[in-house]
Amino acid sequence: MPSLAVVGAQWGDEGKGKIVDYFAEEAHMVVRFQGGNNAGHTVKVGREVFKLHLLPSGILRRGRLSVIGNGVVIDPGVLMEELDGLEARGMSVKNLRISDRAHVIMPYHRMLDGAEERLRKGAKVGTTGRGIGPAYSDKAARLGVRMHELVDPDALQDKLSFLVPLKQRILDAYGDGTRLDLESILKEYSGYGRRLKGFVTDTGAVVSSALMKGKRVLFEGAQGTLLDVDHGTYPFVTSSTCVASNAASGSGVAPNMIDEVYGVTKAYTTRVGEGPFPTELKDETGGALAQRGGEFGTTTGRARRCGWLDLVLVKHSCVLSGFTGLALTKIDVLGGLDELKVCTHYRLDGRRVDRVPADLSVLGMCEPQYAELPGWSDIEPSTMERILSEGYGALPAEMKGYIKFVEKQMGVPVVVLGLGPGREETVDRRKRKWRPRRG
Ligand code: IMP
Repeated sequence: MPSLAVVGAQWGDEGKGKIVDYFAEEAHMVVRFQGGNNAGHTVKVGREVFKLHLLPSGILRRGRLSVIGNGVVIDPGVLMEELDGLEARGMSVKNLRISDRAHVIMPYHRMLDGAEERLRKGAKVGTTGRGIGPAYSDKAARLGVRMHELVDPDALQDKLSFLVPLKQRILDAYGDGTRLDLESILKEYSGYGRRLKGFVTDTGAVVSSALMKGKRVLFEGAQGTLLDVDHGTYPFVTSSTCVASNAASGSGVAPNMIDEVYGVTKAYTTRVGEGPFPTELKDETGGALAQRGGEFGTTTGRARRCGWLDLVLVKHSCVLSGFTGLALTKIDVLGGLDELKVCTHYRLDGRRVDRVPADLSVLGMCEPQYAELPGWSDIEPSTMERILSEGYGALPAEMKGYIKFVEKQMGVPVVVLGLGPGREETVDRRKRKWRPRRG
């Protein structure tokens, strides 16, 4: 298994950061391939908590190469803050590589994100406000600034000399009222360019050559399938492709270089922002899941909506990404509930629905159909210790029943279980691990 992509199977926030950090132990290289600082990965290492938005989670493992691929959009100010924050905590960032083809989030992207949301009135997407959509729009419209231009002051000046007035016109038309100052933007961004220059390179070549040499490469997805711009619950989605195929094009490697794909799903469902959510629990149980699961966004602090596990969504993700394994996270959060429900399919107008409909008004009318499964009591610290030392066999029988049910429905094995935020609070069921890393 020289390469593994880890992607979200729901609406993001599945706990990918912890899972990626866990596998990064065995990898040579960790590559982010899409999204930007709209993502938020929380990783707990011992007593320390790290919140990463742009840097690949592999940066927390010494000696691994961390790559920000061409498919990512980079806010250089945020990236520098993250780098400075890690260095202040005594961590080395010298193993970071940034794609020269990645696009830069400019200040006008953030302003346009806010202005467009305001003008949508009742039809807000509920974006993170980080300028993600406008940066990807400019990439597609061929109006983007790429990293190779950020680190070249003359190229940056040439580009911004027409882009800034052009964006000013749009902001004016939107009635935003902000004045963009070309000189101060140039000064600020060429400063970022100077600082980041040493990290910027042709990362596609770096990743491809590592794969050719048989190195273990881990591709780290951000957000999740239901936030994918094509396959998610459009328009309540992000602006990038979150499914596994983008691990290849967002990193600059061939699709047949990806050997395994693990889908990360919580043992229940959450979503931030607007849009239909068939298994949402607007009652005490939903509130209890939010409290116990700490369901507040890493990036925006917004409360996440909670509901039962919806396998229609996870199957949709599986079809798109070809999961060879599932990572089932936060299963401990379900402890203490007498009865658990898992949605296996929907019903609409007397018909069975197994696919996520493109039309959200139709999804909003779908009635989730549930299997009911027995719950388990809260796991006592002594039982948790036994589980973490003995593994799967020591889990409560009802929890094993829940996992088996998910595996049977999905036709995919649960290879990893998350039982808490810490690195060690993980049950690994893989038959074969990646070889331990040398050197
Ligand atoms: P944007 O990515 O900031 O444009 O936001 C578009 C939608 O994606 C909003 O509903 C956000 O809440 C959601 N979103 C973006 N990134 C994440 C994430 O990492 N986790 C969960 N939701 C996200």
